[in-house]
Amino acid sequence: MRTPLIAGNWKMNMDLHSARVLVSGIVSELPAVADKVEVAICPSYVYLFPMAKAIAGSPLQLGAQDLFFESAGAFTGEVSAAMVADTGARYAILGHSERRHTIGHLEDDWMIHRKVAAALAASLTPILCVGETLAEREAGQTLEVVTFQLVAALNGIKPAKASDLVVAYEPVWAIGTGKTATPQQAQEVHAHIRAELRGLYGDLADEIRILYGGSMKPDNAAELIGQADVDGGLIGGASLKPASFVGIIAAALAS
Ligand code: 13P
Repeated sequence: MRTPLIAGNWKMNMDLHSARVLVSGIVSELPAVADKVEVAICPSYVYLFPMAKAIAGSPLQLGAQDLFFESAGAFTGEVSAAMVADTGARYAILGHSERRHTIGHLEDDWMIHRKVAAALAASLTPILCVGETLAEREAGQTLEVVTFQLVAALNGIKPAKASDLVVAYEPVWAIGTGKTATPQQAQEVHAHIRAELRGLYGDLADEIRILYGGSMKPDNAAELIGQADVDGGLIGGASLKPASFVGIIAAALAS
């Protein structure tokens, strides 16, 4: 059985005070998740240490939004996987579309592959993001694009166990737009990702979690997470308010 994961990607939002208020709101409204749902927050690098302290003793886990693939050296402004691990983080979001496409970093699949390898070497769990643009979907290239991103990132990578890897399907056209993939659209791509993972890792694929991301909200989460191959969510905007984040967690608990 796959334990659903609900991860909040805070992106470049929050200041220290509002981050603390958000965490205490989530913790106080959180239903008893026990081992039924895993929950993680992914703040900016600079808030990893204070958020590690803020979540101590709660079921929340910590993740970073990125990392750099080199282990040390003259890479001004970059943060290594070992540095991220030092904060107590368990997860690292890698290959997010805002880093692939819109911020100007223009991360390519080779960089993302190296980041996945660096994360695993530091005992972090990558949340590897894949997803097509609107133009690619309209051209009928969705499955091809997702396969390419997945195989390029994971080529030669062997997770020791299924919990060492999480994949997030985030259609670029659904991120921050209020347009959500229909549950059927999500399931089609998730099933395809699982089939590709089976090609890479055999039966381990049945245990690897595949999250959906893109305008997930409390009112659409249940139906999305109810799909056979949707194992949770990577949440942007709705992770910034306790009520909406906890609403999504409650939907995952009920799934
Ligand atoms: P939104 O939930 O704001 O659409 O963002 C999704 C996302 O990019 C999570 O990584």
